[in-house]
Amino acid sequence: MTVSTPTDLLEVSHVAVRFGGLVAIADMTFSVAPGKIVSLIGPNGAGKTTAFNVITGYLRPSAGRVLFKGRDLTQMSPPEIAELGVVRTFQRTSVFNACTVLESVVTALHLRGTTELLGAILRRASVVAEEQRLHSEAEELLDIAGLSHRADAVAGTLAYGEQRLLALAMALAAKPIMLLLDEPAAGLNPSETQKFMELIRNIRDRGVTVLLVEHDMHMVMSISDRIVVLNNGQMIAGGSPQEIQNNPEVIRAYLGEGLTNVKG
Ligand SMILES: Nc1ncnc2c1ncn2[C@@H]1O[C@H](COP(=O)(O)OP(=O)(O)OP(=O)(O)O)[C@@H](O)[C@H]1O
Ligand SMILES: [Mg+2]
Repeated sequence: MTVSTPTDLLEVSHVAVRFGGLVAIADMTFSVAPGKIVSLIGPNGAGKTTAFNVITGYLRPSAGRVLFKGRDLTQMSPPEIAELGVVRTFQRTSVFNACTVLESVVTALHLRGTTELLGAILRRASVVAEEQRLHSEAEELLDIAGLSHRADAVAGTLAYGEQRLLALAMALAAKPIMLLLDEPAAGLNPSETQKFMELIRNIRDRGVTVLLVEHDMHMVMSISDRIVVLNNGQMIAGGSPQEIQNNPEVIRAYLGEGLTNVKG
């Protein structure tokens, strides 16, 4: 079904995940081309978050491999994978409650890698200059996320939708080549969801490849370049939004008649 080409950024190949007797992912193969928004959809328990956990090194698969730029991620730790540029957000958001919004992003920039930070400090011969650079970089990321006006607010006091935006700004601080978003629109109102969609497009247009898990079908169908459908730990379809919407098996397993909007 999915023929990978040498230009694919990520290749998930025959991945299986078992938890004791439970098969969370039976046999999953799909690939992600650079510069695209690819969505992973399917019913609750289909294995979407498990797939993210495998790709980002939080889980070792029982079988199969995950190649990012040709390198196998399944033997690497989450920090090593993040350092390669594969960065995720979590289904449940966590932000540093006591910091301000700006400080949270500066902290995320610091976490990007001590070697890089040390190198930068040595090159500039000044910790102060490096701190200033990180501050302006953080301001730029808040601008992209549409959170500049909240820069000095304590992160823990942000409204839910703003916290999701902050989590995204912090993920961008890690300089992703590929960004994995697990249900970013869950719990957002329609206008926040709309803003989030534009933001994801903007991130893609800046050259970041996006792998998205989302139950909001309006969002999935309007922003995805390609969709992969999982059901019971198995990939049942892959294709363009139009192909997926018209696929009888996908309709039966997940979409139902007339694109229901199932929330996870
Ligand atoms: N750590 C774990 N231990 C045991 N079973 C697990 C674990 N993580 C996930 N599972 C099981 O694996 C299956 C896939 O779960 P997963 O969280 O990947 O689904 P999902 O597609 O992300 O669902 P949702 O849309 O509800 O977020 C489910 O049956 C789940 O109960
Ligand atoms: Mg999930």
